[in-house]
Amino acid sequence: LADGPLAGKRIVVTSGPTHEPIDPVRYIANRSSGAQGTALARALAGLGAEVVFVTGPATVPPPEGVTVILVETAQQMLAAVQGALPADAAVFAAAVADWRVANAADQKMKKDGTGAAPALEFAENPDILATVAQMGTGRPALVVGFAAETENIADHATAKRARKGCDWIVANDVSPGTGIMGGAENEVTLITANGAETWPRLGKAQVADRLAARIATALGQGV
Ligand code: C5P
Repeated sequence: LADGPLAGKRIVVTSGPTHEPIDPVRYIANRSSGAQGTALARALAGLGAEVVFVTGPATVPPPEGVTVILVETAQQMLAAVQGALPADAAVFAAAVADWRVANAADQKMKKDGTGAAPALEFAENPDILATVAQMGTGRPALVVGFAAETENIADHATAKRARKGCDWIVANDVSPGTGIMGGAENEVTLITANGAETWPRLGKAQVADRLAARIATALGQGV
């Protein structure tokens, strides 16, 4: 059995983007490397947790020592998360597409020569974080969401925490120019029931270590 402060704890982590098909060869996606989610899963496993890592098509490889579930769409991600429960904690680092294409084609769409363009129709995807945060029985003791913001980080993230019903929000500034999206560093504000705490700009691995340590403390206190 694993050693460490999270030994015996089961934690579900979502990561990466989702891809929502338009037809068999095309898709709509969110921009996400999966770097922060992957670093977090690695850090949690390093503290002894049994990690179920549910990931969309990310650009960084998944960590060692975790159970990897590969998914493509938001609907598949929700099903995989629900199948991975019960868990002590769930951390939602994935960049999930808010909408899927409702009229996705079974065959590759072709130009018809007239210059007419196809019209895509959208349907809202399930909010995986909100669904799990608002579960009655079987809700993980600690539910953590992420919030990528470009302005009023703490205010928007505090509102998001209340709206989604999660325990913590890890908010970050993804404005162009910060270099955070796809970069090696992150600067986060942690929103809990006690308010907002801004951490210094750190490497994504250091942010992950710090967050994993906080999760271990919280679960150790029987949150
Ligand atoms: O509302 P917004 O997309 O900004 O919320 C971000 C948080 O919600 C992240 O933790 C993300 O993983 C999660 N999320 C989700 N399912 C969605 C949309 C977002 O789990 N459909």
